[in-house]
Amino acid sequence: MKIDILTLFPEMYEKVFSQSIIKRAIEENKVEIEIHNFREYSKDPHRKVDDTPYGGGNGMVLTCQPIFDCVESIKTKDSKVILLTPDGIPYKQEMAYKLANEKHLIFICGHYEGFDERIRSICDFEISIGDYVLTGGELASMVITDSIVRLLPGVIEEGSHKNDSFNNNLLDYPTYTKPRVFRGMEVPEVLLSGDHKKIEEYRKEESIKKTQFRRPDLLKK
Ligand code: ADE
Repeated sequence: MKIDILTLFPEMYEKVFSQSIIKRAIEENKVEIEIHNFREYSKDPHRKVDDTPYGGGNGMVLTCQPIFDCVESIKTKDSKVILLTPDGIPYKQEMAYKLANEKHLIFICGHYEGFDERIRSICDFEISIGDYVLTGGELASMVITDSIVRLLPGVIEEGSHKNDSFNNNLLDYPTYTKPRVFRGMEVPEVLLSGDHKKIEEYRKEESIKKTQFRRPDLLKK
């Protein structure tokens, strides 16, 4: 898979994508991630990428030209162009699985007060990572990229994400490791029993109980 990210702040990605699982996925060619500073595509003599809004109002608005030109220079017939914006479709695990099946994703990160509405015309869809407003799409693109890369074949063991929270609309069951007792808190006896059927039943029950208590909205789906 190839992921291209259009941003005005490429340095934000350096640390995040050079650690842990994403780093390894890149090194093992499971994913190629390229960060593009769309300011470099600006035809303005001062490399301007924004302007004042028609009709008046606060702040600056990202202009079409640099973003259109940048997208057009990297887009192929296999690309899906995604705009990150708080008014997009709410991002869920189900969409992470769908995006993980794509060959090429292009993320456009908005910034400042907003972007020219016509930028939406070159996007296949728009995603929001939650009902709050970030200073830009950069963190959203990192969150989405992380959630997709871990699902790519061979990046982490398939068993590790089979039981992820939100698969089957259930939260994860509780897990424990050594020691058996820590500050008086004991590991549930069933997990020490070696009885795999019982352990599976216990985990399923705990998963349902936890979801009922913390996220009853998931069970209604
Ligand atoms: N840009 C600003 N806020 C955002 C959000 N909640 N999701 C995606 N992109 C954003």
